Amino acid sequence: MRALFTRPLFAYNSGILLIVVITGLIISQLTDEYVILGSILVVEYIILLLMMLHVHDKYMKPIRKASNTVDELVKGNYRARIHIPRTGSVAELGNKLNILARNLNEFAMQEQIQEKQLTTVIDNTQSGLVLLDEKGYIHLVNRKALSMFGGNSRDYIGRLYYEVLDHEGIHQTVQQTFLYEKNVKESITQTAGMDTKYIEIVGAPIFNERSLLKGAVLVLYDITHLKKLELMRKDFVANVSHELKTPITSIKGFAETLLDGALDDKETLQNFLSIIHDESTRLQVLIEDLLTLSRLEKDEYKPVKSEINMNRLVEEVLPITNHAAEQKGISLTVEMDNNISLRADKERIKQIVINLLTNAVNYTPENGDVKLTVTDKDENIHIEVSDTGIGISQEAIPRIFERFYRVDKARSRNTGGTGLGLAIVKHIVEVHDGRITVESESNKGSTFHVYLPKI
Ligand SMILES: Nc1ncnc2c1ncn2[C@@H]1O[C@H](COP(=O)(O)OP(=O)(O)OP(=O)(O)O)[C@@H](O)[C@H]1O
Ligand SMILES: [Mg+2]
Repeated sequence: MRALFTRPLFAYNSGILLIVVITGLIISQLTDEYVILGSILVVEYIILLLMMLHVHDKYMKPIRKASNTVDELVKGNYRARIHIPRTGSVAELGNKLNILARNLNEFAMQEQIQEKQLTTVIDNTQSGLVLLDEKGYIHLVNRKALSMFGGNSRDYIGRLYYEVLDHEGIHQTVQQTFLYEKNVKESITQTAGMDTKYIEIVGAPIFNERSLLKGAVLVLYDITHLKKLELMRKDFVANVSHELKTPITSIKGFAETLLDGALDDKETLQNFLSIIHDESTRLQVLIEDLLTLSRLEKDEYKPVKSEINMNRLVEEVLPITNHAAEQKGISLTVEMDNNISLRADKERIKQIVINLLTNAVNYTPENGDVKLTVTDKDENIHIEVSDTGIGISQEAIPRIFERFYRVDKARSRNTGGTGLGLAIVKHIVEVHDGRITVESESNKGSTFHVYLPKI
């Protein structure tokens, strides 16, 4: 700093001395009085020196400071400010420079905020994003894309897409986007261990202001959930069609045989008509179950609650299952305290008890035991249905609440089952904010526990 100021001062001082010497030479031509000449030269030197110091302090120093501040601004330090006297023309320069620095600082801050906002949006968007330049180098991968492909951004940024994104479908999307210069859509499956992800990729070209291709952005949507729903819907339609087809084929077959002449044989007629009757009952039950399920599955479905006396409800339900139990020699026992009540949809709760008891009787061999226990447990009512039947294997337990799932298709169909009973039970329990659990062991028996809130 000191050297900076001493160097010009030395130069100015030399200039002044030169002027003084020249003046001395000129005046020495006019007078021989060396005392006067010396005095004049000393006074001249002092005046010039004072003037020079004034100019230096007032102009040169502030300008140098201003120049240093500009240097700092150029380097990107927008916090740099110049401190110079408040008056004079240089002061105005200083003020303007400070305003400029302040504005630059504000711009920089705004830019930082905007950049942060943009990164937050990009990182939190539910679609994966990959940005490529025209040569195929990756410039950006957001968090969602990383969750799809694994690794961290350092593994991708600055690398060629075909070196790091190991999927033929992605390569094709990029190539076609670059080739046709328009949006390209492709679906790929990504398998990691047991997990399969379905991803839809949209490749969109990016152009500069002169409409030249500058790169592409890949937008990746995880459509696994949609795919699974679609699969479930397809399965459901296939299952319903299958379930409807069997009784309809049977009804049609027997009706045709009757029309072809079997009508005249009284016994065959009786026999076939009773089969047709059974099959149509089966159809009716299936359709009723499907309607019940679809009603329960509606988002807006709310149970119509009323005060229910569980003891009375069980009394109403028992005759329905007693008959089947008696036929198989199964002892059906009930154990419950008096006056158990709850607020719920009566018909639906009845359905829970009927479905669970019917299953218990159906899947218990002759002379077994089925027991219904209802207890009052704090804020819940606990309904327990246990049997000594065939039980359910551990692998099958998580699936028994699925629509149309039957552990043993042939056996279940013989009992007239369609595999919708437990799906309905589960839905009813859920719309009542309750809980259902199962304990079971093959060939030993099963116990279903339903917990329903009292209000
Ligand atoms: N108590 C039980 N003991 C053994 N297996 C059972 C029992 N309850 C249910 N299951 C198994 O779970 C499957 C699904 O039961 P669910 O009640 O949903 O259908 P289903 O009884 O076959 O037909 P339905 O729609 O007429 O009830 C049954 O097919 C059966 O394999
Ligand atoms: Mg059932």
